Amino acid sequence: MVRPSSAVSHRGNLPRVGRMAPRVTARRWLREGTGELHRAAEECVAILDDRAGRATYESYLAGMLGFHLAAEALFEAHAELSQTPFDVDGRRRSRHLEADLTAMGAATDVPSCHLGVQSDTLARALGVAYIVEGSTLGGRHVLKRLPPNLVELRGVATRYLEGYGPATGSRWRQFLVLLEGAVDHPAARASALRAAQATLAALIRHLQP
Ligand code: HEM
Repeated sequence: MVRPSSAVSHRGNLPRVGRMAPRVTARRWLREGTGELHRAAEECVAILDDRAGRATYESYLAGMLGFHLAAEALFEAHAELSQTPFDVDGRRRSRHLEADLTAMGAATDVPSCHLGVQSDTLARALGVAYIVEGSTLGGRHVLKRLPPNLVELRGVATRYLEGYGPATGSRWRQFLVLLEGAVDHPAARASALRAAQATLAALIRHLQP
């Protein structure tokens, strides 16, 4: 599935940072700059393939758990992020992945993802958080389109795909307020984008068999 924005965007079309129109939001900047990598991540995940079965789904959950644990550790250790309204604990979705794996009778001691993302500034940490929080939006789409062999897991081992449930939209908007406020000049946008791209690239490497 192509997410709405990515059909028209790829890195080659990005405006130069210095020439960026004032109305380009940080969110749009990040969405357009990560479109290609998002498509690659979707392919890697493969849980929407007609032939996807429990084994594919289980390895998706395990891979995402290793990714979320690494991102959560990064957020937890980030001094500047802890001074913002970003609710590290409340946004911890590794527990949803652990619950889903447990519901499937699978192990939760998974290999951690090596993020390798430079995240020393708030802009960079928010670039990582953009990927982690944005994935709540895709999850809902996936949930509606589960392939035949996975439909029986809906409501049983799909807590992660539900994101924040009915609060998903409002929590995403809260995150965007923080993002737009903190990533408000070209240099910050450029570093947030590099961090977001590096995060997706690390996830793709981590998910590859
Ligand atoms: C089969 C896998 C996936 C599908 C089908 C999918 C699909 C989508 C869709 C349809 C949207 C737009 C949702 C909306 O605007 O309401 C979206 C947004 C997003 N997804 Fe995914 N996604 C997948 C996997 C992932 C993964 C693994 C990540 C990263 C961990 C991710 C990160 C994002 C981000 C950051 C956005 C927000 C983009 C924005 O609107 O600014 N997605 N995805």
